[in-house]
Formats: sequence, C-alpha cells, structure tokens
Amino acid sequence: MAINLVHRRPLLLFVLFLVVGIWSPVESKYIAYNTTQRIVPDKLNVHLVAHSHDDVGWLKTVDQYYVGSNNSIQVGFDALYFSRIDYQDREKRKDLKSLEVVWQGSKTLGSSADIFTGIFPKNYEPPPGDFYFEVNDVSPVIQDDVLLFDYNVEERVNDFVAAAIAQANVTRTNHIMFTMGTDFKYQYATSWFRQLDKFIHYVNKDGRVNALYSTPSIYTDAKYAANESWPLKTDDFFPYADNPNAYWTGYFTSRPALKGYVRTMSAYYLAARQLEFLKGRNSSGPTTDSLADSLALVQHHDAVTGTEKQHVANDYAKRLSIGYAEAEKLVESSLACLTSSNSKSGSCNPETKFKQQKAAALNCPLLNISYCPPSELDLSTGKSLVVLVYNSLGWKREDVIRIPVCIFIMLLILVLSDIAFIIILIFLLV
Ligand SMILES: *[C@@H]1O[C@H](CO)[C@@H](O)[C@H](O)[C@H]1NC(C)=O
Ligand SMILES: *[C@@H]1O[C@H](CO)[C@@H](O)[C@H](O)[C@H]1NC(C)=O
Ligand SMILES: *[C@@H]1O[C@H](CO)[C@@H](O)[C@H](O)[C@H]1NC(C)=O
Ligand SMILES: *[C@@H]1O[C@H](CO)[C@@H](O)[C@H](O)[C@H]1NC(C)=O
Ligand SMILES: *[C@@H]1O[C@H](CO)[C@@H](O)[C@H](O)[C@H]1NC(C)=O
Ligand SMILES: *[C@@H]1O[C@H](CO)[C@@H](O)[C@H](O)[C@H]1NC(C)=O
Repeated sequence: MAINLVHRRPLLLFVLFLVVGIWSPVESKYIAYNTTQRIVPDKLNVHLVAHSHDDVGWLKTVDQYYVGSNNSIQVGFDALYFSRIDYQDREKRKDLKSLEVVWQGSKTLGSSADIFTGIFPKNYEPPPGDFYFEVNDVSPVIQDDVLLFDYNVEERVNDFVAAAIAQANVTRTNHIMFTMGTDFKYQYATSWFRQLDKFIHYVNKDGRVNALYSTPSIYTDAKYAANESWPLKTDDFFPYADNPNAYWTGYFTSRPALKGYVRTMSAYYLAARQLEFLKGRNSSGPTTDSLADSLALVQHHDAVTGTEKQHVANDYAKRLSIGYAEAEKLVESSLACLTSSNSKSGSCNPETKFKQQKAAALNCPLLNISYCPPSELDLSTGKSLVVLVYNSLGWKREDVIRIPVCIFIMLLILVLSDIAFIIILIFLLV
C-alpha cells in the first residue's frame, strides 16, 4: 500500500502542474533587467556606487604600498569623497547645500592642491530607507513576481524615489550619489547586485528619477560638466565629533605601548635595511621582509590607532616581534661583517670573535624595562663591555644611550661622527 502511494504521487503532481500551467490566468516570465542606463541630462540622476570597505591593499599589495614599488599605478585624485565630518558641520552644510566643495587644503601648495571634495550626507552607507542587501540583512528585497503575496515593486520604487528626492534637497546639481554598501559588505555580491539591477530597471521604468550604475569617476565628471560654482573649504576637518560629546580623539593616544613599539620597530627596520644593503642580500639567509610586512600591516587605520580588539592588538605586536627577531639576526651578522678586519674583499665571515661576544646594546629589545642580559653580565673579572652604536641617519647625532649594567650606572653621552657607525669601548672601573 505504502509503495503504491509513493509511486502515485509524482503522477498526481505532474497532472496538477499541467492544469496550473495551462489554466493559470497570470503568467510569470523571465525578466531581463535593463541596467544599461547612463546619465539623463534633464532628470535627477542617482549614481549607484557599489562599494565595500577597502584599506591599504587596494591598487597595490600591502608590500608594494610600503616600499613604494609598482608605480605603474598613477596615484592622483580628481576628487575626494568621505564621510567623517563633525556632525554639526554636516548639518549646517546640508542646510546650505555645501556638502560638496572645492577644498583648498594647503596654503603652501596653493591651488595645485585644490581638490573637489564631497562629504556624504549621512555616512558611507546606503541612504535612509532600508537599502541593505547582504544575505542576512532585513531590508525588503524587490519582489517582482506578481504571483507572490510579497510583491512590492511600486512600494520599493517609491522608497527609492523618496530617498533620492531627500538627498537632492541637500545637494547641488541634478546628480546625487548613493553609496551602496558599507564595512564588510558584498561577501556574497550577488545578493546586492540582484537588488541594484532591479532598482535600476524598475525606477527607470517609473521614470521620476534616473538610476544608473556609476563610479566616483563618472559622478565627478558629471559634477564637473554641470558648470556649478562650488563653495570653498579651507583648513582641515578636525576636530571630529560624530555625536554630542563624542569626539574622535582617542586614536591619537590609545595603546601607547603599541604606538611606541611601532615607532621603535620602524626605526629599527630602517637601520636594518641599510645594513642588509651594506652586507648584500642573502636570499636564503634572514631578511628584513617579515619586519617590513608586519610594519605595513600595522599602519592600518584600526591598528596603530589602537581601535582594534585586544586579541588583534596582541597579534600585531606578535607579528612585529617575529619580524624583529629575524631582522635582528641580519643586523648581527651584517655588523659582524662590517666590523671584521678582513671584510674588505666583500666576502664576509660572520663567525668572528665579535659574533661570539654579541652586540649587546643592539640586541636588547627589553630596554624599556631595563632588561639586557648581555650588558648585565658580571664584568668584575676584568672583562670589557663593547657597545656598538649605529647611527642610521645621514647626519651627526647627539643622544643619551641608556644601558643597564650589573654594578655601575653609566650614562654615556655620545657624539657620533658622520661616518656610518663607530665602536666605543667602555673600560669599566673595577
Ligand atoms: C535599456 O535601457 C536603455 C536606456 O533607457 C534603452 O536605450 C534600451 O533600449 C533598453 N534596452 C532594452 C533591451 O529594453
Ligand atoms: C602593478 O599594478 C598593476 C595594476 O594594478 C598590475 O597590473 C601589475 O601586475 C602590478 N605589478 C606588480 C609587479 O605587482
Ligand atoms: C528640504 O530641506 C529643507 C531644509 O533645508 C527641509 O525643510 C525640507 O523638509 C526638505 N525637503 C525634503 C523633501 O526633504
Ligand atoms: C557647461 O558649460 C559648457 C561651456 O560653456 C557648455 O557647453 C555646457 O553645455 C554647460 N553644461 C551645462 C550642464 O550647463
Ligand atoms: C646565506 O645565508 C645562509 C643561511 O644563514 C648561509 O648558510 C649562507 O652561507 C649565506 N650565504 C652568503 C653568500 O652569505
Ligand atoms: C616592553 O616592550 C615589549 C616589546 O618589546 C613589550 O612586550 C612589553 O610589554 C614592554 N613592557 C612595558 C612595561 O611596557
């Protein structure tokens, strides 16, 4: 009996399907959304700019940014668009339609540094009115299947047009930009583009405004072509508060230990790279690359600023310390090379006496807590301590060098000559 039922069901469904298929009064059909729309001069043009949030590794890799390589990419700007402006300034600019300006940012550089600058009316997200389309977002998608109860094309088109008119109300010219995205969006890009396609298709069928796929370049060209005269902005945009009593100042001071570590490591990297060059790069030996990578990474706006979570901050510090450990080996062998008496020939043997003794002052990453085992050895037996100081700058320098020692507290004021490095022998009084 059960077996018979299972066999019968598909047949029944097939018959039902045929009946519905043939007799259904409303046909749903394949819709090719028309998204080819360009600018229409006499309409309000809504430039849809799909975006997520890109950081350092955009046009160049993180490494290429850091070392300034791959300059096939022309870095020049015709315009600048951003969101982070003081909330009171933003409100005032909305009233005066002065969110878009010519920014005269530099008195020194004068007009060559002038740039067309657009401040977004809200933030860098879609306009108000439920236009978020990540898979788990709650904004209603456009349902254009008339057979479904959720059919909502007119409603969604009205939402879009209302958002456009509201934004046009605070914007000069008949061009506005909808920034369709925000942080971490487009993880499944289809979920956004599906809706953007539908909006463009149905909004343009409606005809009250003109919606198009655009880019900041297309938008900028349109603004330029409009012959508008723009308000002038001088000075900068700081300080920045995004709400009453909510000033964005913490990132100048947060996580001072990490900030200090980044500075120290940057200086060390610079010196290590010089020494790497002077010794000659050894592809199978230690390099400064790992330190360079971690320093590049920590330039991220949520890294050195200190705005990241604790475990992320720990990770940045860990990466720096791994990079340092490798660079340190290189520094050690390079200095050994450069100071060994028979290093003129270019062939260098780091296995020198110097190596065995170690360059104590250079290898004390924990000087911040006055901890340096090599310099804190018991020297009362008549041994001497050799301190090698390398000046990575191209000019003379006067500095206080602080080294923890076993018995004696020493303050050495070193006047460094303009030769690249010097060796100072300190004879300890016994
Ligand atoms: C798509 O829209 C453009 C611009 O409105 C129009 O010129 C073109 O004919 C449309 N294409 C189709 C297939 O409807
Ligand atoms: C430099 O950047 C261009 C443009 O992004 C890319 O095509 C090229 O492969 C890059 N070159 C290197 C060496 O990475
Ligand atoms: C346009 O802006 C003015 C203030 O500048 C405001 O009073 C008005 O409600 C706005 N209109 C729309 C449709 O947003
Ligand atoms: C802007 O000015 C140019 C040259 O005067 C003119 O050809 C063009 O039509 C103007 N554009 C608009 C949108 O008024
Ligand atoms: C390069 O480094 C490796 C590993 O430290 C070492 O064995 C090798 O001798 C070095 N080669 C040169 C040319 O310095
Ligand atoms: C000293 O510096 C190291 C990194 O080199 C860091 O881990 C440690 O927290 C610092 N100590 C203090 C007391 O700041």
